Amino acid sequence: MNVVILAAGHGKRMHSDTPKVLHGLAGRPLLAHVIETAKSLSPSAVVVVYGHGGEAVREAIGASGVDWVKQEPQLGTGHAVQQAVPALKTNAHTLVLYGDVPLIRKETLERLAAAAGQGLALLTVELDDPKGYGRIVRSRGRIARIVEERDASDKERAIREVNTGIMVAPTAKLKSWLARLRNDNAQKEYYLTDIVKLAVDEDVPVSGVAAGSAWEVLGVNSRAQLAELERMHQRNVAGALLERGVTLADPARIDVRGTLECGRDVAIDVNCVFEGRVELGDRVSVGANCVLRNVKVGAGTRIEPFCHFDEAEIGSNCRLGPYARIRPGTVLAGDVHVGNFVEVKASRVGAGSKANHLAYIGDSEIGRNVNVGAGTITCNYDGANKHRTVIEDDVFIGSDTQLVAPVRVGRGATLGAGTTLTKDAPAGELTISRVRQSTIPGWKRPTKPGK
Ligand code: UD1
Ligand code: CA
Repeated sequence: MNVVILAAGHGKRMHSDTPKVLHGLAGRPLLAHVIETAKSLSPSAVVVVYGHGGEAVREAIGASGVDWVKQEPQLGTGHAVQQAVPALKTNAHTLVLYGDVPLIRKETLERLAAAAGQGLALLTVELDDPKGYGRIVRSRGRIARIVEERDASDKERAIREVNTGIMVAPTAKLKSWLARLRNDNAQKEYYLTDIVKLAVDEDVPVSGVAAGSAWEVLGVNSRAQLAELERMHQRNVAGALLERGVTLADPARIDVRGTLECGRDVAIDVNCVFEGRVELGDRVSVGANCVLRNVKVGAGTRIEPFCHFDEAEIGSNCRLGPYARIRPGTVLAGDVHVGNFVEVKASRVGAGSKANHLAYIGDSEIGRNVNVGAGTITCNYDGANKHRTVIEDDVFIGSDTQLVAPVRVGRGATLGAGTTLTKDAPAGELTISRVRQSTIPGWKRPTKPGK
């Protein structure tokens, strides 16, 4: 099968400088969803007809193995498919999809393709309010033609069975029909829908296949519709997670913008956002209001509320947050604790180590069973270059310590609270940089003159 995706339209009602098909659903452009579904059918060719927005559309989608055909000017859906014709394999069928109808399901398309046989198959849906759609006109039960809203009579406008626009046709016939389209209609456009009447006139069978659900054929014309489809999609994703045994505190308050893989007995509290590829091991719990992006979390790890993790690998049985921030390039081993207002960037932290309060750990190598005291900072940046800090196993770092990198703390060393470490600290010893404590007898606080 060939797939043609129409994506040249303007999308005026979005009131946006971004082409409509590049607006995001679940963190990806609408068009990317359609391309993915198209490819899941293993087609011989996927042709995207683009126009409005120009090269920005191609660039945003990037390398996706599709053929791009530019439609300029945009003279209607029939004209759009016509532009794709040279790229189509004649001995296969052609499926027409829309770049702004992102939730169409593979199963529905397979059903449509099966119904086409040697003829034309239209995906239809019955709507309580069919306004704006092309109506399916039947004669003695059989599809006779499609009439667009603006060209329809009052009687035809009362028809509730509408054209979703998605169709499958034998390519050779499609080519001949497209060549015969005319634009003598209210919008002076070449309507793809007019091929239905041409097929009927040639006694080519035309079948209607009802969509499984209305949401999968809904298009995006406005921000309101985009928001509705986003919620619809997220409800579907949440439903699938529940189905697989994930506990969700509220299926209406989770957003998955990518893929979320969960082990057994994972629990996710409200308002969490998962971006890119996130993997949660068995028994992981995620507290309320966390954002996890491209993160892998080991079994049994507990993530308290308000954490933000990005591009990191987290071991098993860790205790993280609340309010922990883990940035790209971080690898935490098992049983690690990262507490409130602790930021970890591009660092490896060994098993059993803890940084429980108010710390910055950047470009560091931390061994096993290290205790990082409150207020510890690795000074990794000298204003021009980044340097590494190495902290070996069993080190104890007192509160409010600065480690001025590059610097190394030897195994089992202790750093006294308030130390500013500028040279390596030897293993097993106490290193301290603070001025010895002294008391000045009889010292008085200064006062304002005249008091
Ligand atoms: C079209 C159908 C209508 C159907 C409705 C479903 C036609 C004539 N009408 O109407 O029967 O009920 O979709 O939503 O086909 N596009 C191009 N190039 C063009 C024109 C459109 O690529 O020159 C693309 C648009 O980007 C859009 C799609 O085709 O993705 C549909 O175009 P639109 O103008 O929205 O068609 P409708 O009037 O909604
Ligand atoms: Ca439309």
